Amino acid sequence: MPRTLCMWRGTLLLLVLSGQIVFRNVDGSVTPGLYPAMFIFGDSLVDSGNNNFLATFARADFLPNGIDFGTGWPTGRFCNGRTIADYIGLMVGIDPVPPYLALLQNQGMEGFTTGLNFASGAAGILDESGYNYLGRIPLSQQLGYFARVKEDLVGRRGQEEAERLLAKSLYFVAFGSNDYINNYLQPTSYSRLVYTPEAYQELLVTTFIQQLKALYRIGARKILLGGVGPLGCIPAELNIFKSRNGRCIESRVNKLVRGYNKAMKEAAEKLVKRHTDMHILFADAYKQILAFTQNSSQYGE
Ligand SMILES: *[C@@H]1O[C@H](CO)[C@@H](O)[C@H](O)[C@H]1NC(C)=O
Repeated sequence: MPRTLCMWRGTLLLLVLSGQIVFRNVDGSVTPGLYPAMFIFGDSLVDSGNNNFLATFARADFLPNGIDFGTGWPTGRFCNGRTIADYIGLMVGIDPVPPYLALLQNQGMEGFTTGLNFASGAAGILDESGYNYLGRIPLSQQLGYFARVKEDLVGRRGQEEAERLLAKSLYFVAFGSNDYINNYLQPTSYSRLVYTPEAYQELLVTTFIQQLKALYRIGARKILLGGVGPLGCIPAELNIFKSRNGRCIESRVNKLVRGYNKAMKEAAEKLVKRHTDMHILFADAYKQILAFTQNSSQYGE
């Protein structure tokens, strides 16, 4: 069976920055209703169909996407089966939540049950990232949609209940890849002309932290924050930087990603220290993906 980025079943290396985010009980069982809802923000790693509604080159509504999903047609997920967000949802007893734009198009907020997915292929922390794909919903706009959802929930259920729901829910936030591969590392990148790698990293981290604060102000408290994987090993970068023998591009790509992940994790640690009721789990995608690819036999192949 083909394996793509979204199909990993392995346990993520979860680093607890602040306690109280629980996925399973000690005996391995899942407490039903632990999280009343799940909200997903991110890029093509977790988009489940929002981009189907956009004029964009970043789309996955054609085969072979979705061949193992079980619906018999491509859902808009950029992979053969489920995304990591789908798996995390299943771990906590939440079936895949609908893409926000699909819900709007179909039932509207009447149909809201256990959460929403705002993720969009080609989206970045920075609004301009992914420009080469045209349509996409950047992090800032995903948060704008979420703020609207909150207003709607307040209207339907009252302030107190809406806030309680949002505070108890699980948030999956995965960004950063497109800020590198579809911005800084593009051959025609404007960002690379004006920022050193260090300055660009600082811009990403500062912007992302501002957005996490906005997410907190809207009402999120329990956040699973995804780090960026080893982008220097993906085919596009091997091609752009003329890899020899398929070796990962270390100094010009992976080093940048490692720097970003480290800085982002430290900034998130500072953030939860300032907000004691905010909980962040940092998922070290970089280490985990290297482990999957370099030691695949330990993970079932
Ligand atoms: C692969 O497995 C070996 C042996 O368990 C371990 O030492 C190494 O760190 C692993 N590599 C990665 C990238 O996780």
